[in-house]
Amino acid sequence: MRYSTFLPVLAASLAAAAPIEERATVEDYNPPPGGDVTILNYALTLEYLERKFYMEGLANYTQADFIAAGFPDPFYDNLKEIYFDEETHVSFLAGALGAAAVHEATYSFPSTDAASFVALSSVLEGVGVSAYLGAAAEIVDKSYLTVAGSILTVESRHSSYIRAALKESPFPKPFDTPLDFNQVFSLAAEFITGFAPGDPALPFMAFPPLTIQASQYPYTAGSSPVTFTHAYKNAMSAGLITSSTPVYAVFFSGLDTYYVLTRMTAGNSGDLKIDMIPAGMAGMLPPTGQVYVVLSTADGNSTKVSDENTISGVGILEVSPPGDRNIF
Ligand SMILES: *[C@@H]1O[C@H](CO)[C@@H](O)[C@H](O)[C@H]1NC(C)=O
Ligand SMILES: *[C@@H]1O[C@H](CO)[C@@H](O)[C@H](O)[C@H]1NC(C)=O
Repeated sequence: MRYSTFLPVLAASLAAAAPIEERATVEDYNPPPGGDVTILNYALTLEYLERKFYMEGLANYTQADFIAAGFPDPFYDNLKEIYFDEETHVSFLAGALGAAAVHEATYSFPSTDAASFVALSSVLEGVGVSAYLGAAAEIVDKSYLTVAGSILTVESRHSSYIRAALKESPFPKPFDTPLDFNQVFSLAAEFITGFAPGDPALPFMAFPPLTIQASQYPYTAGSSPVTFTHAYKNAMSAGLITSSTPVYAVFFSGLDTYYVLTRMTAGNSGDLKIDMIPAGMAGMLPPTGQVYVVLSTADGNSTKVSDENTISGVGILEVSPPGDRNIF
């Protein structure tokens, strides 16, 4: 077994009552202003987005389009089922919130055909899982926690199904990846073109966007380089760093966080680059599956990554483990 070192390490750290996950400041994982109502509205915002995405996809692309793109029956029927789930999540959450519920925003999705729709579906389902997982610890009312968990497991089923349809591992890591509110909000903001007028703004903010230069799919832990287009230039002009500030690419995968010092690329492009996605150190699994990355001034030793020291994000990469572990 490839990760046989992992369980003893985990057992040892539990025995020592050491924190398994130290990646965020306490504030990032504290209940937001408004508590559970805000969290339910955050969930509702994501469910509206997913519902709209599947509604458009089912209208834009036919069963024949999905078959031609390599997604044979009953794929289209299962997409309808996913749409039904998202629609039901929306009506459930909106019903529970009553007059406090936010309304549907307006959205724009970059998918242009059946294949790009399925690729984006995989990203959105993964983000949904990470959003519910990150929010879970902040829910105060235990009965809401059961509801959120009940939705989370269905989102993860969607994610596995879509990943398998893309010939990606349906369960790429023994742990899923929690993201905090602002990290998820940053990802959702890429698709939201406007909030409903009159709705109270959710108390979250999007980080400056992070652009990953397209190079390969999937990336491989322990070997693939990554370039962050104009990241240095953008952070300098926003006054977030000075020319001497070290900037780290911080990867999140499962319960692991990996810090890699970036450097400028040759020439004057204003890009930042790392030579390889880390494979993980002793006691860590390699980043695998849908991996998230932010740029931060935290080095992971003296300072942990937090919303306060994040300078851009969130980027998403599909990462294969080092070596050639078979997917199926
Ligand atoms: C559906 O098609 C419309 C019109 O071309 C486009 O604006 C929209 O982004 C598409 N939606 C999805 C999810 O592909
Ligand atoms: C953090 O400390 C470890 C152990 O001293 C070292 O190997 C690693 O390079 C340091 N990381 C950073 C980002 O400075």
